[in-house]
Amino acid sequence: MQNDKPIGLFDSGIGGTSIWREIRQLLPNEDTIYLADSKNAPYGMRPKQEIVALSEKNVDFLLDRDCKLIVVACNTATTNAIQELRQQYKVPFIGIEPAIKPAALKSKTNSIGVLATKGTLSSELFSKAVETFQDTNIIEQVGYNLVALIEGGQMESEEMTRLLNQYLQPMIEANIDHLVLGCSHYPYLIPQIRKILPENVQIIDSGSAVARQTQHLLKMVTGTAEKRIGTSTFFTNSDPTVLSKILGSGYPVERVDF
Ligand code: DGL
Repeated sequence: MQNDKPIGLFDSGIGGTSIWREIRQLLPNEDTIYLADSKNAPYGMRPKQEIVALSEKNVDFLLDRDCKLIVVACNTATTNAIQELRQQYKVPFIGIEPAIKPAALKSKTNSIGVLATKGTLSSELFSKAVETFQDTNIIEQVGYNLVALIEGGQMESEEMTRLLNQYLQPMIEANIDHLVLGCSHYPYLIPQIRKILPENVQIIDSGSAVARQTQHLLKMVTGTAEKRIGTSTFFTNSDPTVLSKILGSGYPVERVDF
């Protein structure tokens, strides 16, 4: 089935572009529309009802632009709002959740770390996932202030190194062999995280799994685009400087008020 409508993605800010990159690579024919709700970032410390309301506003924006499928490119929005979104809208949704399952199944030390926002770690969806792996030692850590620093373009700052050291040391002491990045912003910190973690610790994020799931849903449910190079459109409701910088040239960002 052919369907040339775009795939919509949203996040509280620039983090979901790590998912967009995976989708772009796997599905180059698809048009994509990415929405960064940076004005309201971070979502991670907000109560559930606020996260639901912000997610609905983002979905309305993407549906106004005729998206055939929506990728909630934010763990915090997925774990707090995807059930409500699925109840309210007919469009298919794909969410992103911390990849505890592959980490727990592959772990040889039986100890894994999860770095995520407070909103994700305190969600019901996350607690249920953790319950399934009661035999694994799961060290949970809230990444306080990491998203704010990334949104502020301070990925390589001294403060970032200090915070990452503080958050990762207890995991290293607990002998983790897998670190799950449970926030779509965090893949941008992999170079800094790599410098702190011992070599045997594998870093896992869910980006490629989300792209494969998107491919599956396009084939099974919505239809795929015809064979040509797809377009990529970016919107933000805040200063576009940091988003433009991480995307690089060739991807203009439009500032919108919403
Ligand atoms: N990228 C979002 C996530 O995956 C960031 C959360 C936030 O805005 O705090 O959780």
